[in-house]
Amino acid sequence: MNSNLIPVGIIGTGSYVPEQIITNKDLEKIVDTSDEWIVTRTGISERRKAESHIASSDMGVIAAQRAIEAAGIKATEIDLIIVATITPDMLFPSTACIIQDKLGATNAAAFDLSAACTGFIYGLSVAAQYIATGMYKYVLVIGTETLSRIIHPADRSTLILFGDGAGAALLGPVKEGGILSFDLGADGSGTMLLYQEAGGSRVPASLESVQQGKHYLTMMGNDVFKFAVRIMGETSLKALNKIGLTCADIDFLIPHQANIRIVDAAVKRLQLPPSKVYINLDKYGNMSGASIPVALDEAVRGKKIKKGDMIVLVGFGAGLTWGSCVLDWIY
Ligand code: ACO
Repeated sequence: MNSNLIPVGIIGTGSYVPEQIITNKDLEKIVDTSDEWIVTRTGISERRKAESHIASSDMGVIAAQRAIEAAGIKATEIDLIIVATITPDMLFPSTACIIQDKLGATNAAAFDLSAACTGFIYGLSVAAQYIATGMYKYVLVIGTETLSRIIHPADRSTLILFGDGAGAALLGPVKEGGILSFDLGADGSGTMLLYQEAGGSRVPASLESVQQGKHYLTMMGNDVFKFAVRIMGETSLKALNKIGLTCADIDFLIPHQANIRIVDAAVKRLQLPPSKVYINLDKYGNMSGASIPVALDEAVRGKKIKKGDMIVLVGFGAGLTWGSCVLDWIY
């Protein structure tokens, strides 16, 4: 980091997952699949599903309140709210504005950021710039997803993977340590590997688009898998190398929770023992933009992370996008 910049750290985290649990056995009753297939191919045993009246902002608010409380500041002190989501309450206004109102964060600017599962890391990088330059003091980054609303109920290849939930991190200036580096990337040639076709300006909502199921998530699972296996290790190493570190310096890895085989490939590339990796995909599946902040919050509250630990957050997602962040944990 440029020495004129203010050091930035995560000073509080929070998360929320809905109470309703959907097990693999439950899914066996809906589509042609088995608990054995799902566990072997993905590592996922169950996921959470939001009640029908709950939207992404509702879960995001709870996660945010917990992060604000952990940071020990008031909602009115927040300068900016960034929400990473591919399942906003509405296409507009932003879910960030809805959350700003519900939090009473009356002094905060607010916007959404679209980078799918990498959204939380992209969000951290944006937040860090505002604080590092002195423009803002406190920025709240939230990843919140109600993926159950965009998954085709009869598509066994996606129904088994995704879950609902929200995570949040409050960023502020710190004396030392904190966020040390980022590596971000995108490859738009992979747009059609993972997308929701209808509901935007190219295929507006119509009777036909709904009948054809174009409002549901479509994924080329194998292609995304191959990309993810390569990129998770690669981007982590790039972020480490930027600050002269190697994988031997990692104390704890918090990867995007898409598939245990993808995480295992990254862990192998980074030569890490399992004890240094946080996994909760068995309980929640892939919560897209919410996966990393939920895992981070659980790791913090479960005391898996301690002051001075070198943490790597790493994710990939639709876009295609990818990103990693190295942090010297400050509390
Ligand atoms: N139950 C049983 N069989 C299934 C299921 C299921 N739920 N789903 C697929 N199958 C079948 C397929 O139809 C196929 O059958 P066939 O050989 O007769 O054609 C067979 O199982 C193998 O299918 P593959 O797709 O080759 O299985 P694979 O081992 O690749 O696993 C999976 C599929 C789990 C989707 C994997 O490719 C994956 O995890 N991909 C990455 C997905 C991902 O991470 N997406 C999120 C990105 S993040 C974001 O931005 C949202």
